[in-house]
Amino acid sequence: MNDHYEASRLIAAHDSDSILDAVVPPIVQTSLFTFDSYDEMIAAYRGEITRPIYSRGLNPTVRAFEEKLAQLEKAEDALAFASGMAAISASVLSNVAPGDRVVAVRNVYPDAFRLFGTYLPRMGITVDYVDGTDPQAVEAALPGAKLLYLESPTSWVMEPLDVGVLAAAAKRHGVFSVIDNSWATPVFQNPIELGVDLVVHSASKYIGGHSDVVAGVIAGSKENVDRVRSEIYPYLGGRIAPMDAWLLLRGLRTLPLRVAAHQDSALEIARRLAALDVVETVMHPGLAPLPAGLRGTTGLFSFIFREGIDLRRFCDALELFKLGVSWGGHESLVVPGDVVLEQKARPNSAHEFGISSRSVRLHIGLEGTEALWGDLTAAIAAAGQPSEVKAAQ
Ligand SMILES: Cc1ncc(COP(=O)(O)O)c(C=O)c1O
Repeated sequence: MNDHYEASRLIAAHDSDSILDAVVPPIVQTSLFTFDSYDEMIAAYRGEITRPIYSRGLNPTVRAFEEKLAQLEKAEDALAFASGMAAISASVLSNVAPGDRVVAVRNVYPDAFRLFGTYLPRMGITVDYVDGTDPQAVEAALPGAKLLYLESPTSWVMEPLDVGVLAAAAKRHGVFSVIDNSWATPVFQNPIELGVDLVVHSASKYIGGHSDVVAGVIAGSKENVDRVRSEIYPYLGGRIAPMDAWLLLRGLRTLPLRVAAHQDSALEIARRLAALDVVETVMHPGLAPLPAGLRGTTGLFSFIFREGIDLRRFCDALELFKLGVSWGGHESLVVPGDVVLEQKARPNSAHEFGISSRSVRLHIGLEGTEALWGDLTAAIAAAGQPSEVKAAQ
């Protein structure tokens, strides 16, 4: 509980100077900033003064968001991007070169998996996958590697990792570590404190929190963030727009309260699903003791139906849960695994990231536990099987 209040205090503090004492910072919606004189301009170009020049580099609204996020992640610095994937690709590409080897935990977010499987090999970079829940397997893969890529919990199968142990192994082998912390959010996990070098978020999820922005952010030491900054500015360029950064600032203010509510509802629904005889497995990190460093859980988890449930009828019978990708907003969402297996738009081998034809991913939103449970049980009944509670063993 204290985590929420601590995070809320951090968010309220460190507001940038505001115009006319406005309680909310302005959206500085501009691409460039002009100079009063030649001398001021040359001083900025020489790096003798720090001031905005062009919004791909520095923008005050974006900077206000980055400063708050760095505080929350207990990091020295942060850098915001146009999407979570822009943050992931920039973090990886800034830290590898042809001939390098990356070690990634299995079942990472599917587009990160595609980046590793299709894009990095084009640049002569190889990627080895390891079971992140097995620290010895990770340690064995690290000698000679350049980068360790973590996500905890992993996507779909939701395996929570012992991040501190894996980060320490990376340090022992001189391997740079990166983690996707989108699910836990800075409220429940601070990987920098656990020894990870760089944290990545899809801010489109809980940080934004209202499903109205696609964005990403990284956090870490000034040196580590600067390395990415120095590559992204001239080359990759996927920076966030001021309006989107402003939406993230707004989202951050309620982040601690929202994740607490997602946690309570999702855990309760996961427990009830696990008790149903039509459900084979529920993959929710909160159903077992959490690894050290993970202080809470949020609203996204998966489960696998037993044979006999018609996923089409289940999904179409849901009323509160909407069929849709993404997660982290106010609304409850469902993704059927069999549909993901059919995806044609991108190189796909969904089974490689743990998705099966009987798995379902749920995002538990803020509509209230009992209403959501009523929706799920009605849809399960409509899908062909009565939802009996499992007989006692
Ligand atoms: C765990 C995880 N990381 C990263 C991303 C990518 O973020 P974005 O969609 O903002 O590019 C997503 C989802 O879309 C995700 O689920």
